[in-house]
Amino acid sequence: MTDWDGELNHARLHVVSGKGGTGKTTVAAALALALATGGHKVLLIEVEGRQGIAQLFDTAPLPYAEEWIAAAPGGGELRALAIDAEAALLEYLSMFYNLGFAGRTLRKMGAIEFATTLAPGLRDVLFTGKIKECVGRTDERGRYVYDAVVVDAPPTGRVVKFLDVTRAMADLAKVGPIRDHSDGVVRLLHSSDTAVHLVTLLEELPVRETLEAVAELDAADLRPGGVVCNRVRPNRLPARSVAAAASGRVDAERVRAGLATAGLQVDDETLDGLVHEAVEHAIRTQTEDDARAQLADTDLPTVSLPDLTGIDVAELYELAEILYEHGIRSPR
Ligand SMILES: Nc1ncnc2c1ncn2[C@@H]1O[C@H](COP(=O)(O)OP(=O)(O)OP(=O)(O)O)[C@@H](O)[C@H]1O
Ligand SMILES: [Mg+2]
Repeated sequence: MTDWDGELNHARLHVVSGKGGTGKTTVAAALALALATGGHKVLLIEVEGRQGIAQLFDTAPLPYAEEWIAAAPGGGELRALAIDAEAALLEYLSMFYNLGFAGRTLRKMGAIEFATTLAPGLRDVLFTGKIKECVGRTDERGRYVYDAVVVDAPPTGRVVKFLDVTRAMADLAKVGPIRDHSDGVVRLLHSSDTAVHLVTLLEELPVRETLEAVAELDAADLRPGGVVCNRVRPNRLPARSVAAAASGRVDAERVRAGLATAGLQVDDETLDGLVHEAVEHAIRTQTEDDARAQLADTDLPTVSLPDLTGIDVAELYELAEILYEHGIRSPR
């Protein structure tokens, strides 16, 4: 498998996608902690409006503000932001027009609701616009406020549409300041400052979706970053026994003898159960090996995270440490 090479560590915007339920939110949070490790300042952004980050870190729901959420090892700092479509629209428009009163009127008229629910692509344009603002923000000395920004993005089926602001803008604004701003967003998303990572399980469906997403990203000229194989479980069978065991060929008497050598006497029922488990385990191992081989064909850097029993804040730090040890860093 390709390593997480130096090039990906130049990215300042990390977009985390993947099939639903594979661990996008968990991995985005762990990645953000890894990037903050060693004294960096990182922002973790949520766009789905489900307060997954707050739940994960066991804190109150996030307001539309960049809030401190966790300390990273070595003095790093993690902030989090849940982007809200309505607040983002008002903020976005006020960048170009003086809105005070108009903003209140817009709200009353339900224009916001109209714009955010009906105008195709507008929501995504607002969100990516806000993300770009966070990535590009500098302090009074001209240094970036955040060393890296991580986005807990929509699932694979929707992520390209989400990031493909160019197409959305074709319907929305052809000229003017909003158009100029969007051109900046498009430049960022298609540059080497941005990497779109894909979280997967070593199972057939998520891997298929991952491969499809890589092709879709390539076609849209967006850069696939790394593949994160989540919830990987250890393989307990020697490689040479896997194929035989997976096709049901397990020598029960040898298992019994082996257990007896270890001082364990088992009845037939227990032995049957153990043989059955070995077969299941072998089948899973084979599926995982196939999945790994398919992912290796993409030539993308890959990192594996273990299946932990439940994810709490401590486990997030554990996953972050694995990513950090794998060489994942914020750009200097
Ligand atoms: N490495 C892991 N070990 C054990 N459990 C995990 C691991 N990663 C994620 N989980 C668990 O899997 C479930 C789904 O994870 P998560 O919410 O991060 O996925 P998601 O892709 O963001 O889901 P959704 O598509 O609903 O947003 C959660 O219960 C989470 O705690
Ligand atoms: Mg999620």
